[in-house]
Parts: sequence; C-alpha cells; structure tokens
Amino acid sequence: MARRRRRLFARWYPGFAAALEDHGLGERRARLLAGLSGRVLEVGCGHGVNFPHYPDAVTELVAVEPEAHLRALARAEAAGRNAVVLDGQAEALPVESGSFDAVVATLVLCSVEDQDRALAEIHRVLRPGGALVCLEHVASANRAVRSGERAFDAVFWSHAFGGCHTGRDTGAAMRRAGFDTSDLAEGRFPDLPFPLSVSPHLIGAATKAD
Ligand SMILES: C[S@@+](CC[C@H](N)C(=O)[O-])C[C@H]1O[C@@H](n2cnc3c(N)ncnc32)[C@H](O)[C@@H]1O
Repeated sequence: MARRRRRLFARWYPGFAAALEDHGLGERRARLLAGLSGRVLEVGCGHGVNFPHYPDAVTELVAVEPEAHLRALARAEAAGRNAVVLDGQAEALPVESGSFDAVVATLVLCSVEDQDRALAEIHRVLRPGGALVCLEHVASANRAVRSGERAFDAVFWSHAFGGCHTGRDTGAAMRRAGFDTSDLAEGRFPDLPFPLSVSPHLIGAATKAD
C-alpha cells in the first residue's frame, strides 16, 4: 500500500513542485547549491529539479532516486551534464565510503523510511569534513504542535504525500548521526501569516564532525 502511494506521489509531484519553484523555492535552491564543488551526491533527487542549479565547480554529480518515474525524468534532466542517476535508497546508498565532498538532500529526509539509517549512510559516504547540504522542512519547535503534527502524519499526511512527515526533528537526528549543525539556518517556507506544518525549514550545510 505504502509503495503504491509513493508511486502515485511520484506522478503528481513534478507539477506540484513546479508551482513552488516560481514562488521562491527555486531561488532558495540556487543559493543553497551555488558554493558546491568537487564530487557531489544527491539523495532522493526526484525529477532532477536541483540539477540546473549546480555550479560548474561540481566536477561529478551522482544522484540516487528510488521512484522509477522520477528517475526517468531526472535522467532526462541529467543529459548533457556530468551527472548520473542511480536507482537506490538513502538507507543503503550504492556508493563507496568517504568518496563525496558533499551530499545534497532537499525535501527528502522528511520522506525516507528510516531517517537514522539514511543519515548514517550519508555520513558514511562523505569524506572527513564533508558537508550535508540540505533544505528540509522540520517539526515545529513547540512540543504540543509537534505532537499534533505526528498524529496528523500518522492518520493522513504521510499517506497523501508519498511518505512525507511533518513532525520529524531532523536537526536532532543529524547531530545523533555525527553532524555539526551549528551553521544550519532555520527559516520558513512558505512564509505565510498563518502557521503551516511544512513551513519550518532547516537550510544550509551540516558538517561531518567525526
Ligand atoms: C518531496 S520529494 C523531493 C524531491 C527533490 N529532492 C526536490 O527537492 O524536489 C521526496 C523525494 O524523496 C524520494 N525518496 C523517498 N524515500 C526515499 C528513500 N528512502 N531514499 C531516497 N529517496 C527517497 C522520493 O522518491 C522523492 O523523489
């Protein structure tokens, strides 16, 4: 059932994402990725929406995407770039340890089935001092709101949005996995006058600390 819902999500996500790109998300992606260089791994690349934002200093891009439909779109987007798109899961990355200067995760750590395992894998494949560059929506800082988010995730949100969770404390999970998150910034997107469970974001680079 979960598998079928993820497949369905993969069908409508690119159209949904396109609307957000023009409302500030594209700009955020561009700023986030502008400083990258060397070998970069992107996990859960979706339809390759980040690819046009990678600077020339990125000498090789390896992307991993488990959904066949999104992977096919990402491969089309990768054509003509120094990029390859692999089938795989963040929880078992099909790449060598210590081999990447940076790992990029945008709107993915909310959706992986096992966040601790995914972060352990990202930590494994980064070189010492490498960066997890991310844009991730995270749980509310308010404990009561967070409980509400987790209940809503369980009964509706995750089922409707391809396994996405709004109530994950992704910053804490990164620290548990051995990342220094002190340079990550907290932000809101979309920044609306009313609260939205997907608004609180972490954006920036967490460094492989040990
Ligand atoms: C909300 S979409 C984000 C796509 C893209 N990264 C972006 O910024 O638009 C979530 C993505 O995570 C992928 N995903 C879900 N579970 C995953 C896993 N266990 N490992 C890797 N990617 C996963 C989905 O297939 C989908 O492409």
